[in-house]
Amino acid sequence: MTSRKRIFDLLRTINIASCQCPAHGYRGNIQVSNATPLKDYAFEIKCSTVRYGLGVTREVGQDLVNLNAKNVCVMTDPNVASLSPMKAVLDSLTRNGINYKVYDKVRVEPTDSSFKDAIHFAKEGNFDSFVAIGGGSVMDTCKAANLYYSDPDAEFLDYVNAPVGKGKAVNIQVKPMIAIPTTSGTGSETTGVSIFDYEEIHAKTGISHNALRPILALIDPLHTLTVPEKVSNYSGFDIFCHALESFTAIPFTERGPAPANPALRPAYQGSNPISDVWARFCLQTLQKYFVRSVNNSGDVEARSSMHLAATIAGVGIGNAGVHLCHGLAYPIAGNVKSFVPEDYGSNPIIPHGLSVVMTAPAVFRFTASSDPEKHLEAASLLGADVTNAKRKDAGRILSDVILLYMDKLKIENGLKALGYTNDDIPDLVKGALPQDRLLKIAPVTQSEEDLSKLLEESLTIY
Ligand SMILES: NC(=O)c1ccc[n+]([C@@H]2O[C@H](COP(=O)([O-])OP(=O)(O)OC[C@H]3O[C@@H](n4cnc5c(N)ncnc54)[C@H](O)[C@@H]3O)[C@@H](O)[C@H]2O)c1
Ligand SMILES: [Fe+2]
Repeated sequence: MTSRKRIFDLLRTINIASCQCPAHGYRGNIQVSNATPLKDYAFEIKCSTVRYGLGVTREVGQDLVNLNAKNVCVMTDPNVASLSPMKAVLDSLTRNGINYKVYDKVRVEPTDSSFKDAIHFAKEGNFDSFVAIGGGSVMDTCKAANLYYSDPDAEFLDYVNAPVGKGKAVNIQVKPMIAIPTTSGTGSETTGVSIFDYEEIHAKTGISHNALRPILALIDPLHTLTVPEKVSNYSGFDIFCHALESFTAIPFTERGPAPANPALRPAYQGSNPISDVWARFCLQTLQKYFVRSVNNSGDVEARSSMHLAATIAGVGIGNAGVHLCHGLAYPIAGNVKSFVPEDYGSNPIIPHGLSVVMTAPAVFRFTASSDPEKHLEAASLLGADVTNAKRKDAGRILSDVILLYMDKLKIENGLKALGYTNDDIPDLVKGALPQDRLLKIAPVTQSEEDLSKLLEESLTIY
């Protein structure tokens, strides 16, 4: 008798052979019964409400009035606290008669201890809403503060992603949070993800749940005009990798199993026709504006476009996910030795965008065989001439165009320039392995040896 799996595979083959365009054909796997399919057949797109416009921060006070907010927790970092974006927020709150308290001690590249400090501050207040004004570090800290404020009895590791934490589902109601990004990079304003460095394991991990997603993101390009060159550079490479990784992620129909309950479908679902639209738009925007936006802080057109691209890439990653560059970046950032980047204060840190792009040339050489056409398309959207390119060269071609951007923007020459040697590779691999959530979104499976090789190839990149 023909097995169920055989029937299932046959139906999938027929489905793949038929029209795959979103309008007519993209049906993914066909369900043949109510049993949970081995692979997923559906994807969904979730996103915060996004409002974009020069100067739109002035509306935040009115938004809080509309939410009936009476006592707001405003979170920022010590640097942004003294800049014009913060002034714009507080002016709007004052104009609209909103009571607020400011927490301005967010750590750049937050840790579990810095999260706990912010959570403690939140628990001391009697807040009915949260506003984050800053980069990814601020928005992520604010999401965590909101979550543990709303569930005061929870242990810190309860909600942290497994296997580091317990990965508990969020079944409580968190308070409304408005996010106002001041860097152009993370896209955290649209995601339900909050990332921190877990000091005990020297690697980043996070909390990932739809409940953490801000209800509103105010995307105000005016804030980007004060962003220093290195921050604009490194956070731009965060957008760059978000777009490339979500575009090349495993197709959602290849990830499985389908969840028994739709509420359990993971945030990172794999590439899909909608997130591909965001990724393509971002790659084109990066080609046009990335270098311009870094080299000229007064270029409003370039900086505004990059600010929008960051949010758009956030919608892509928030639903499709990111894979190897991010999975490897978490231990790269977490094991920092003495690297102190310009424009980020005096603590040794490896800024997120820098940690992510370091392995990108090696990663895309490695993943290209999964879908050479898509890798070539990405290279072309970034400006490479792919006329007559051969499929077998897709990885090299995409890697070369990535290196061109890195070189143009004077990115450090590989992990060695950040203080790592060959001897550090086993620890870096050890730190990457718990990032299962990301590694399984890669379009090819990887062994520990593969991860070591990717890191070895990234020690020196030019
Ligand atoms: N939640 C997510 O979905 C997600 C996605 C990617 C990255 N992240 C996380 O986000 C963090 C990185 O965030 P980031 O790259 O946005 O930078 P950041 O928030 O760490 O800020 C970097 C530096 O820029 C300064 N800065 C911010 N805005 C400024 C402005 N307008 N003018 C002048 N200076 C300004 C800050 O004070 C800081 O010194 C990392 O911890 C990373 O892991 C989160
Ligand atoms: Fe990122």
